Amino acid sequence: MCGIVGYTGKTPAINLIIDGLKRLEYRGYDSAGIAIPIQKSEKLFVEKRAGKLQILSNSLTNVPKSNAGIGHTRWATHGGPTDLNAHPHLDESGKLAVIHNGIIENYLEIRRQLESAGHKYLSETDTESVAHLLADAYKRNGSDLSAAMREVCQQLRGSFTLLAIHSDHPDLIVGARRNSPLVVGVGNGENFLASDVSAFISHTKKALELGQDQVVSITPEKISVTDLKGLAVKPKDFEISWDAKAAERGGFTHFMLKEIYEQPKAIADTLLISKSISESMNKAKQNSGLNLNIDLSEIKKIVFIACGTAYHAGLVGKYVIEAWTKISVDVELASEYRYREPAISKSTLIVPISQSGETMDTLMAMRYAQKNGAKILSICNTNGSTIPRESDAVIYTAAGPEIAVASTKAFVTQLIAIYLLGIHFAKLHNSLTQKEIDQILSELDALPAKVEQVLETVEPLREMTRKFKDAASMLFIGRGVGFPTVLEGALKLKELAYMHAEGFAGGELKHGPIALIENGTPVVALLPSEESVINEKMLSNIQEVKARGANVIIISDHEVKNFDLQIRIPTCSELLQPILAVIPLQVIAYEMAVARGNDVDQPRNLAKSVTVE
Ligand code: G6P
Repeated sequence: MCGIVGYTGKTPAINLIIDGLKRLEYRGYDSAGIAIPIQKSEKLFVEKRAGKLQILSNSLTNVPKSNAGIGHTRWATHGGPTDLNAHPHLDESGKLAVIHNGIIENYLEIRRQLESAGHKYLSETDTESVAHLLADAYKRNGSDLSAAMREVCQQLRGSFTLLAIHSDHPDLIVGARRNSPLVVGVGNGENFLASDVSAFISHTKKALELGQDQVVSITPEKISVTDLKGLAVKPKDFEISWDAKAAERGGFTHFMLKEIYEQPKAIADTLLISKSISESMNKAKQNSGLNLNIDLSEIKKIVFIACGTAYHAGLVGKYVIEAWTKISVDVELASEYRYREPAISKSTLIVPISQSGETMDTLMAMRYAQKNGAKILSICNTNGSTIPRESDAVIYTAAGPEIAVASTKAFVTQLIAIYLLGIHFAKLHNSLTQKEIDQILSELDALPAKVEQVLETVEPLREMTRKFKDAASMLFIGRGVGFPTVLEGALKLKELAYMHAEGFAGGELKHGPIALIENGTPVVALLPSEESVINEKMLSNIQEVKARGANVIIISDHEVKNFDLQIRIPTCSELLQPILAVIPLQVIAYEMAVARGNDVDQPRNLAKSVTVE
């Protein structure tokens, strides 16, 4: 949600900024803008447009040469997506510009005060107030933009990443963050500020993490970070492991398709990383206490907190970890968690799951649990992001940059991290034998090749999907771990095809949802293996919908007769099946979006990284 880029260095800024914004497009936005200081000029060069980045790029004629500037993609919150509401916002002199991600909660109060003091507003945004506040503070602080930023941040409530420039200091960019992401890219004679590292990975792999309520100022040669009182802070540096190529489409028509096909590698990479973490946990335990600051042997209850696709990964986690360890597991929608009164104790382990590491609902739920004494072990795909930074321990997934808004490879890697966490607990509690653990580990190792096999057989599914392109609704049924898997299938279809889709537990159909079935309703049914106790139950559920005229598409590892289409997936043990079964579901959603002419990588109304509550 909202992309932020700042550059100051040795080359013309405009192309670097637009390129950085392009790489942040996936976050979701509906307008875009830039501001550039012009040497020896009083005013800034500013251009902003509603709509896609291309519209902004097309309007960029006669851009003055400048080696610094800021750019923004906006996802509208306060005020519609219009040219005027697009960022940057300026003070009345036109010398100071601000871009913002997040929400200023006390903006109305500030706006009333500023308007009665004579400030004139041009937009409906919460951000414009920051521009006026900063301009006043800049005067009070002897033209010191960093000091002005510190003063203003103390007046703001809510969440923000802010970048500001002033025409008096053409190579300076000042940034600040609270509950919203901002990273520094450290170059040679050039420096970057951005919402996430994808904006600058093609220029530098060195980055700095900024903490809560910190203010950063960058020039081509210098980076300084302070807290809001002005005390110098030493930020944590890190190397970015993602390579720039990974964030490009590489011949695929869409990022989503590329990411679907990257899943075998993402799984293999995550297995490697997570296993080594799991080993280090074991070693540290033997040597006295975990090096990850959590003694997992004390844990009596695990709570996954997450949103969207990551929530579905957590739901699979409940089936897996309870089966392997008998530890009680809850799964909570992060947006609900802190607004009720959940039971939390010191023996509760909270496991936030987040691809971006910035989802505000998840972050707030995690902080709430932390405040109430829980330990936090997060599962995250993004190094340097807020959720892992504030956790006691982290398992990083190795999906690499996921650009398409609809999550695919992040989901399967989250499952891998959960399986390894389950194994770790099973070892601690002696709830599985070594033989059973070895069996699971070797099955996990076989998954990348099996996912490849699935990907080789999805062509008929793509054809079939196109036939249903005008269906009003599509239903998904499954049982056991198949249930959260079909929930994910239905979510994917909603997100991408803008089509009504729902996932149901097969056994629940007869308690209501079966009323939805009419002649021709497409129903995707996920079957466990033939030996499973729920296989026959699922077959009966399938008969129930078939008898009422549904077109049934079966996903299973064994032959089933008399259905409209069957997608065979390789055999694996039941609890690992979501990894294989979700692939055809992703393909259905992808193909349906293409068939219906939708924007696959940036579906309407959605954002990749939802940084507001
Ligand atoms: C947004 C995205 C979803 C994603 C969810 C959680 O809603 O559109 O695809 O699953 O956020 O994101 P996270 O980064 O926390 O995994």
